[in-house]
Amino acid sequence: MAQPAQSSSQAITPRHVAIIMDGNGRWARQRNRPRTFGHAEGVEALRRTVEAAGDLGVQYLTVFGFSTEHWRRPAEEVNALFDLLRLYVARDLDKLVREGVRVRVIGGREGLQRDIAGIIENAEQRTKHNDKLNLTIAFNYGGQDEIVRAARRFAEDVVAGKLKAVDLDHKIFESYLDTEDLPAADLLIRTSGEFRLSNFMLWQSAYAELVFLDVLWPDFGKAALTQAIDIYRGRDRRYGGSAPEPA
Ligand code: IPE
Ligand code: MG
Repeated sequence: MAQPAQSSSQAITPRHVAIIMDGNGRWARQRNRPRTFGHAEGVEALRRTVEAAGDLGVQYLTVFGFSTEHWRRPAEEVNALFDLLRLYVARDLDKLVREGVRVRVIGGREGLQRDIAGIIENAEQRTKHNDKLNLTIAFNYGGQDEIVRAARRFAEDVVAGKLKAVDLDHKIFESYLDTEDLPAADLLIRTSGEFRLSNFMLWQSAYAELVFLDVLWPDFGKAALTQAIDIYRGRDRRYGGSAPEPA
């Protein structure tokens, strides 16, 4: 998970944009419609955003689709969210394959309905040679859960004699994360005016620039993504280093 060499992000497009898509329920409520209506519109926003990310030269787009905490929602809403993943893949997979988008899904596979696991596998397989845009959907994902699963797998490898505990460093640990082949997040966006990470990409966002926008997710698209990238470009990324002395 190498960090880019530049110390300033002036005019540089973030390589990896991660988005906490929030505000579907409020968007629907403002229209006196059920929350699931907001989620359906949220899928339209996701389609626009994937398109826009490609146009803007973003290489990695990671979105928070369903969190390990979303299981607390009413079963009806949880089922609707699963249905939307089915619908999104059924409607868009051919197009994603054609347009060079590589799809990955991160998150725990346990507890997922069987057909969902198959849909994920198929989408990953069919797009694995693509490299224009890397779209990663976090589904049944929680950053703490991901870290715990990684630690468990590392411990199993130690017990199996494949590695020693003292060998563990950042790089090796990252190879156990769901995001093993993704770079660190450069820009993390959350919509709907909430200021929380909500357990998203905890490890990967260590040095991400955080941008919080008021827009509700169903209203998100190229304009909002461009706005977030402009804010990112105005930031000075130092990765813990100090600012250069004025000349
Ligand atoms: C985002 O919107 C939901 C998902 C990506 C699953 P919410 O459902 O959290 O909407 P609010 O926060 O209630 O408005
Ligand atoms: Mg919310």
